[in-house]
Amino acid sequence: MKSDIDSIYAKGIRLAPDAYDFLEKFALEPAILQKILASDSFMLTKDDLDGILSAEEKIPTETVVSRSPAFKPEAKEYAPNYKVIEKSDVSGKSRCTGKLEDFVAHFRDRYARISKIVRARISQNAIVPTSKLKSTSGSKVRLIAMVNKKQMTKKGNVLLEVEDEEGSAKVVVMKDTPGFKVHHKILNDDIIALDGKNVDELFICDNVEWPDIPVAREQRKSERDLGIAYLSDLHFGSKKFLEGEFSHFISWLNGSEGRADLAGKVKYIIIAGDVADGIGIYPEQEKELAVKDIYKQYAMFDSFMEKIPDYITVIMGPGNHDAVRRAEPQPIIPYDMVKSNVVRVGSPSRVEIEGLKHLIYHGNSLDSIIATGGLTYDKPHEAMLELVRRRHLSPIYGQNLIVPEDHDYLVIEDEPDVVHMGHVHKNGHMLYRGTLLLNSGTFQDRTDFQVRMGHVPSPGLVPILETKTGKVNYIGFKEGVAGT
Ligand SMILES: [Fe+2]
Repeated sequence: MKSDIDSIYAKGIRLAPDAYDFLEKFALEPAILQKILASDSFMLTKDDLDGILSAEEKIPTETVVSRSPAFKPEAKEYAPNYKVIEKSDVSGKSRCTGKLEDFVAHFRDRYARISKIVRARISQNAIVPTSKLKSTSGSKVRLIAMVNKKQMTKKGNVLLEVEDEEGSAKVVVMKDTPGFKVHHKILNDDIIALDGKNVDELFICDNVEWPDIPVAREQRKSERDLGIAYLSDLHFGSKKFLEGEFSHFISWLNGSEGRADLAGKVKYIIIAGDVADGIGIYPEQEKELAVKDIYKQYAMFDSFMEKIPDYITVIMGPGNHDAVRRAEPQPIIPYDMVKSNVVRVGSPSRVEIEGLKHLIYHGNSLDSIIATGGLTYDKPHEAMLELVRRRHLSPIYGQNLIVPEDHDYLVIEDEPDVVHMGHVHKNGHMLYRGTLLLNSGTFQDRTDFQVRMGHVPSPGLVPILETKTGKVNYIGFKEGVAGT
């Protein structure tokens, strides 16, 4: 930074051009600046700066990217075609003060919008409110309600307490009901349709339906033959950040690492959060950091962004490691952190790209949905499906921090064509009723924590969607990590 250079000059120390160039780009931590000012050299080179910094605080190396002169990218011939529909960046606009009324308004909005989706589902049974259950005299009806409490009985049946705007009801789902395997996955706060009969104050339910994507659609494709590369969890600044592999990815985009036909189609890159590793995200994180200055972590990212071909649009959202609040919706990564010319969105966000409706979300709630059982970190797309089934990105209240805005940004109101998440460091995708559910993995190598947890990530594996055919390709940049 200019002020660091001024202080060094004021001390009578000269800087070689390479040292000057470096210091112009990066902000120094005060302790490091003091070390440099204490130097008795007349002139410092970048090598000298490297020597002054401790081994822990290495200067990021200049990004080396190769470019093939024969590369003729098709994507360069097209103007970008994208529209940010909802970036859920509430910074500065929030009406929420965290009062009880805010939570009431938040949950009213959530209930109204999700129950509307459930109500629109086709059913042979008449929908009745809980208050009218008694008068249905044993005929088959449908309730639409939110689950307040779920209990498994000793005999393996499910007992529920549900609530709608008019009251509450006790529901039992018998274990011998056809489809029980699916039905018993009901979670607290689920907003669902329950078909059954009212018998002596108890609603005997034999069918459960979530709002879901009710009808299978054709996968949406675009007219133009372009590519979208999906990234997440880069973790710049971590000792485990795979700098070499990421350089290869950038070189690949520049047509010099094989599959130049596919590389040349890439018109968009979407990054679903955890751009930087951050500071103080978990106890003793500093031991895992190669770069302990958050500004410098983002400066490293910026230096890579400079090498991305300029016809590519980069769309970037935050994750739980980034320099924004942890509670959702998470706002955009600030301009004084990432300085590159990228399209900033919050988490979650909705962006239409080449006519494909994207829902981009870091995936903070994947941990809590996986913890409900029957799901694994190895198949993140299956956990993503559970969120889509509930039409909410963080359905279990209390498990993930939220800011109770009067509009719940986490409701999945429109049926997306692509749902893109990260967070779990494991690639995976599936086509579900016409919606592509995709997790974009990571560029952080396996951490000690993941070794202890037995979690095997899939670093350096980049999914590329061809928008005209709907095909997902994987390009691997780390030896031994193959596509799924
Ligand atoms: Fe994350």
